[in-house]
Amino acid sequence: MLYILRTLIRRLPGVVIKAVPLPEPKTEEGFGTRVKVGEICRNNGFKRVLLVTDKTIFSLGLHEKIIESLKECGVDYSVFADISSEPNLTIIDGGISKATDCNADAVVALGGGAVMDSCKMIAAGVRLKKQKSKSLLRKFLLVPKKTLPIIAIPTTSGTGAEITVGAVVTNQKGSKTATVVVGLDVRGVILDSELTVKAPSKITCACGIDALSHGLEGVVASVRVPAEDMKKSMECVKLVLQNLPIIINEPQNVEARQNMCLAAHYGGNAINKQLAGYVHAFAHSIGAKYHIPHGNAIALALLPVMSMQKSKCQKRLAELSRYCGLADESASDAECCDKLLVSIGELIDLCGFADTKGIIKQSDYKSLARAIAWDSINYSPPVVMSNRQIYSVLDEINRKREE
Ligand SMILES: [Fe+2]
Repeated sequence: MLYILRTLIRRLPGVVIKAVPLPEPKTEEGFGTRVKVGEICRNNGFKRVLLVTDKTIFSLGLHEKIIESLKECGVDYSVFADISSEPNLTIIDGGISKATDCNADAVVALGGGAVMDSCKMIAAGVRLKKQKSKSLLRKFLLVPKKTLPIIAIPTTSGTGAEITVGAVVTNQKGSKTATVVVGLDVRGVILDSELTVKAPSKITCACGIDALSHGLEGVVASVRVPAEDMKKSMECVKLVLQNLPIIINEPQNVEARQNMCLAAHYGGNAINKQLAGYVHAFAHSIGAKYHIPHGNAIALALLPVMSMQKSKCQKRLAELSRYCGLADESASDAECCDKLLVSIGELIDLCGFADTKGIIKQSDYKSLARAIAWDSINYSPPVVMSNRQIYSVLDEINRKREE
């Protein structure tokens, strides 16, 4: 019964997401390009901006060139550097107060996914004149006159959150809540690889595999999109497969870092237009249960999920494999598909994620399967898995791949 219900409402997310206006920011790319932020703000007519970031970025001084640029262009600014890795309502309230008090007409977001998502809520709260962000937490937050404009400068190559309309914050009960901001105004995005070159290898790998999963789940998604969006999702996967191995061996390689920034950005487009799928449903549920960071949980779930559903999306995976240059035109779809999955497996191995064999307890299977099934309703996967199939994927995740 549950399976039939899930199947029936499966098409809803694809329909709903097409009704949500998506931001179309002007994008600047290149090493050191964050110095253009002042010019971008001035050209948009912003007089006073709130620069939002986290304590680590602030202590590393990554904000300094941004402030210099704002000063040079005559744009007033205030700084709010209180965002944590898991932002809660108190932090969001603080950001809304700060932006309101300084009369900011735009927000400059500098950081990873947590900063980006916080800025979405702050920019919405200011425009809706909400001092308390508790009332902003809902499945869809409608901002009729759009949020404050945001200039987003991501410091990690993973979430693509600089462009996604979803925002995840921790509610008053301590649970993470996802809100789709309808009317999000991301006016500009700056993809500056200089901000990522010193990222620790573990973070680079986790973020890179996450970005790859966004592109991959986009390619196989059941929701239909224009060819240019499908091309971006395919390019996302190709860029990660080609550039993440280079960075693992040569962390300072600027060209590869810049390509990863673009891959993550395309991955964000995939989330917006094609939604995610079971890789994310498994990763969210397993990650929450066993406190595994998102990218690491994605690395656990990616191959077992794709192997389970590959027969339903073999043609698209084969096309992607050829696009990535992994197989020639004469190879069969099955061969191309296998080559792609082998390459992804090799990349995950190269990343060297910690061994988590047997991490999922048998006694947790039932509750996990329920959580995965319900989470998957938000997405657009190529198949609807039965409980038996979900159990089988959990078994596979628990097994070491090379065995
Ligand atoms: Fe993700």
